[in-house]
Amino acid sequence: MKLWSKGFEPDKMIEEFTVGNDRELDLRLARYDVEGSMAHIKMLQSIGLLSAEELDILLKALGEIAEVIERDEFKIEDGIEDVHSQVEFMLTAKLGDVGKKIHSGRSRNDQVLVDLKLFMRDELKKVAEAVEKLFRRLQMLSEEHKDVLMPGYTHLQVAMPSSFGLWFGAYAESLADDMQMLVAAYNIANQNPLGSAAGYGSSFPLDREMTTRLLGFDTLHYNVVAAQMSRGKTERAASMAISAIASTLGHLAMDVCMWMCQNFGFVSFPDELTTGSSIMPHKKNPDVFEIMRGKCNRLQSVQNEIALLTANLPLGYNRDLQLLKDIIFPATTEMIQCLEMADFMLQHIRVKHDIINDSRYDYLFTVEEVNRLVLDGVPFREAYKKVGLEVQEGTYKPVRSVHHTHAGSINNLCNPQIALKFQALMDKISPKA
Ligand code: ARG
Repeated sequence: MKLWSKGFEPDKMIEEFTVGNDRELDLRLARYDVEGSMAHIKMLQSIGLLSAEELDILLKALGEIAEVIERDEFKIEDGIEDVHSQVEFMLTAKLGDVGKKIHSGRSRNDQVLVDLKLFMRDELKKVAEAVEKLFRRLQMLSEEHKDVLMPGYTHLQVAMPSSFGLWFGAYAESLADDMQMLVAAYNIANQNPLGSAAGYGSSFPLDREMTTRLLGFDTLHYNVVAAQMSRGKTERAASMAISAIASTLGHLAMDVCMWMCQNFGFVSFPDELTTGSSIMPHKKNPDVFEIMRGKCNRLQSVQNEIALLTANLPLGYNRDLQLLKDIIFPATTEMIQCLEMADFMLQHIRVKHDIINDSRYDYLFTVEEVNRLVLDGVPFREAYKKVGLEVQEGTYKPVRSVHHTHAGSINNLCNPQIALKFQALMDKISPKA
């Protein structure tokens, strides 16, 4: 049975091909579909398209459907195309003609749009909360290990002293940058498209300001064509934010894999958080961070998939848009999983002390030596030459003390300032009050 049934049923193969796994994906939209319908009918009543009694009856029935969804018992029945049809069929089955009234002034294109906006808004908030947890963990670790030095590399060659305070703190601040993208994606999702109907508005005097208020959107997607166009753009903005976070997290995962390698040995984890080999009895592998690196790399391709799916589509609704769900739904879920796993693992990370006392890191301190000479009045280029010659002749002796005081350096990490930056962004998605 179709909402658009006109006395014939489409071929089964056509049905399967066009619906695919959409019904399964739609289950995640069910609660938002009901929420959107509730706002829509309240608005219909306010403009005289439903009586107060009809509104009461409909709200009660929708409330019951919401409870079924809450209990995880909501199903899209065989032969019913999508969540929007299922909700309407349930209403009509229960209420007859009253149920048939709720679709005035809207279209499924409109419904799926508003469902997706509400869904994306919630998902992005969950992503932001997972980012926040990891951010706090990294900042804590940065403070805890701020006095533990480690080598810094350029070209993957021993370069200058670094520290675990800098390393952990760097990823925290990097996440603060990614939050800028997340806030942008959230703001794009937080606009009401409802009332765009099939994509070109309606001859009913729909009160779109009212549904904006009822659904707690920040503002309207005013232009109905722009509202319809926002399908795809909303997901694309979200995927760009996810890509930014995934890039940071994938980079962190790579560092951990490398620092766990025996040639570095800078960090380790309790045995039960590592994995073994079927042949080599000594192995304690970093599989968690390898899978994380792989997943994060894949997550960065989601924006490409969306760009290709939506490139050059004609204006207005096109069924291609349905496939967006299959790309973005698993992406937000996987992003959250990776962030939570990183937080869990880092809770147990052990860092090695005394790394830099090893003679292979002697040259980490050449620049410290040059700078000492400069402070004694030797011009930089001469001091550089002097230390360079000592290195060449094998007479260079490292002084392993570090005193970096400027903002953002080893002995002045500025973690509180970074936390303020992060909090200001987080407040835009999830205000403290
Ligand atoms: N499952 C569809 C989607 O996600 C719902 C909208 C259907 N609209 C239509 N005109 N066929 O896009």
